Amino acid sequence: MTSTLFTNISELVTNSPEIGDESKMGRLYDAALVVEDGVVAWVGPASAAPDCDEISDCHAHAVVPGFVDSHTHLVFAGSRADEFAARMAGERYDGGGIARTVADTRAASDEELHDTSQQRWWQLRTSGVTTVEVKSGYDLTATGEARLLRVASEFTTETTFLGAHSVPREFAHDRDAYVAYVAGEMLSAVLPYAHWADVFCDRGAFSVDEARHILTAAREAGLDIRLHGNQLADSGGVALAAEMGAASVDHCTHVADHDLEALAASGTVATLLPTAELFTRSPFPDARRFLDAGVTVALATDCNPGTSYVTNAPLVLQLAVTMMNFTVDEALWAFTAGGAAALRRSDIGGLAVGQRAHLSVVNGSRSADLAYRASTRPLFAVFRETTGIVL
Ligand code: NIG
Ligand code: FE
Repeated sequence: MTSTLFTNISELVTNSPEIGDESKMGRLYDAALVVEDGVVAWVGPASAAPDCDEISDCHAHAVVPGFVDSHTHLVFAGSRADEFAARMAGERYDGGGIARTVADTRAASDEELHDTSQQRWWQLRTSGVTTVEVKSGYDLTATGEARLLRVASEFTTETTFLGAHSVPREFAHDRDAYVAYVAGEMLSAVLPYAHWADVFCDRGAFSVDEARHILTAAREAGLDIRLHGNQLADSGGVALAAEMGAASVDHCTHVADHDLEALAASGTVATLLPTAELFTRSPFPDARRFLDAGVTVALATDCNPGTSYVTNAPLVLQLAVTMMNFTVDEALWAFTAGGAAALRRSDIGGLAVGQRAHLSVVNGSRSADLAYRASTRPLFAVFRETTGIVL
């Protein structure tokens, strides 16, 4: 087994309160970290580091856990640039454009979907993401949704069935039949490739009762559940997620105080998606309301062709801090440990001994540089398992 010493780290964030300054960030200065077999084997002051087979000099840069992007729709074909332009000219986002991406995605070859998804995943990785969740939802047939999840499962185990993303045209006059199809034949077809089930529970999308029906069937079939909720209106999606004990409810643009109390009590993570708010000109939720209520918060890119065509992870952090009232530490925690919590994972999202050595070397001496400097080269290197990308 080869051991690698990452040393000359000016600031190391581990997200482990037992390490370093005993804050939630588990921060150490002038630090080193040993990796064996892709796992963190030792963390401590550089002056006390053990001998290792290889040395990786971090050149007095900061090191942080890799971002855990717990909400994306990476597998799709086509573009909606003209829809975006129309929105910026005053049109409102209502989810109607999903049909356009569905048509483009159904027409795309396996090879095209594979190649474009891999490109987006590469872009996310070079921006510091080391784990990605990927949803289906742009085919809306049983075989097609299974195809999208098969493509996604080539690069992540965090695959999510989102057949309830929109009612496709062929079911426009019988939505009950579509809900039954999603909870029946489509669910059975995706089971080999899906880990999670999700529903777009919102105004103009799926109702609370429809979402409850689909998520109950998914859970009975062995999938764990998460939800899109309250992006477009106070739709009841957040309350449903708490009621059902979902791992996460995502967007949370419109939430009432009782929703926050319910989330805190259930332990359901609230995943906030700042770039979706930015590119739809929606109000940014105030992170203080969530954090002060005791809710666990995650951040994610929501990479998708409609509301957030974003593969630039630091932008999420920058908006969280500048527009949503996160402190820099809170935002960094939310995009690492928070994302891991949203995926019910304890092996990622931090750099304590035993966790996976998924880490980014910041192009600066402080972790805060990630939010402070909007540079074209925010990172010096990204390591995932045993392989690294030097940028
Ligand atoms: O997370 N809200 C639903 N789904 C996506 C957008 C889908 C689309 O417009 O293509 C989202 O914002
Ligand atoms: Fe989404």
